[in-house]
Amino acid sequence: PSKKIVVVGSLNADLTIYCERLPQPGETIHGTDFRVLPGGKSANQAVAAGRLGAEVALIGAIGDDPNGQMLRESVSAAGVDVSSLRIVPEPTGVAVISVDRQGENSIIISAGANGVLRPEDLPAAAFEDAAVLCLCLEVPMESVLAAARAGRQAGATVLLNLSPYGPVPEELLQLTDVLLVNAHEAADLLGADPRHDWDAARSGFQARGIPRVLVTLGGDGAVVLDSTGPQPVVEIDAYRVSPIDTTGAGDAFTGAAAFRLADSATLQDAAQFASVAAALATTRKGAQASYPDAAEVNAALA
Ligand code: RIB
Ligand code: NA
Repeated sequence: PSKKIVVVGSLNADLTIYCERLPQPGETIHGTDFRVLPGGKSANQAVAAGRLGAEVALIGAIGDDPNGQMLRESVSAAGVDVSSLRIVPEPTGVAVISVDRQGENSIIISAGANGVLRPEDLPAAAFEDAAVLCLCLEVPMESVLAAARAGRQAGATVLLNLSPYGPVPEELLQLTDVLLVNAHEAADLLGADPRHDWDAARSGFQARGIPRVLVTLGGDGAVVLDSTGPQPVVEIDAYRVSPIDTTGAGDAFTGAAAFRLADSATLQDAAQFASVAAALATTRKGAQASYPDAAEVNAALA
């Protein structure tokens, strides 16, 4: 069976300044170094899976500019198929990112080319042999929906990272096989903080038509909510590290989970593996630039 992962969505140049602490509104502070790094949630997910050794294709849009070139190179270097990347008149998407001494970040994105990815830009053939489809919310909703329909049609496991968080049509949730959210996104969706009662969260998601959910908890690990399995709630311990840059850690988690799910792993195994991959990614600067290979994750798991 195919183990191919298809990622549909965003690519951004991450304009990143490292600083002691994040600025308050109206405040100017001195930062330290400035870097332009390859990012964007979908490109990050694709690179995370590609570096682990997965067969991955990325579908998205970039501008005809140096940032687009940088992204194409970074994504290809991870072995990702970029033949379905469109070049559009808009500039490549950018993210302005501040990262503090604890590795915590704040991010503003400007969609640029990502904002004009249309359903017509998704080549039907790319979905045919997909085992897993990864989606996020940094491209227009109509395109996310079109991709989800194509993925479902092809029998792929549809993995949706509900980020950046916003209202989503019910149909998208119905088309999702595995939802990936952090605790805040889960709380917004459920109307209650899942950390207070994981079983209530599980049944809340099930009632919304989402039986399988991965909730990431940053430095506190992750929780698997699986109403279809023998163990409905499984807590995954954190792999302890000293983070220096958490940018794109959630995308590393998503890409790594996709890599394991494409290889028919259980949701719990996928979450275990992904949480180590995401933790390792926080020990180095940048998003894509920081992602581990399979040898590093396996060594940490052993
Ligand atoms: O999830 C991290 C990513 O969010 C960054 O790489 C940035 O580009 C934004 O898309
Ligand atoms: Na990192």
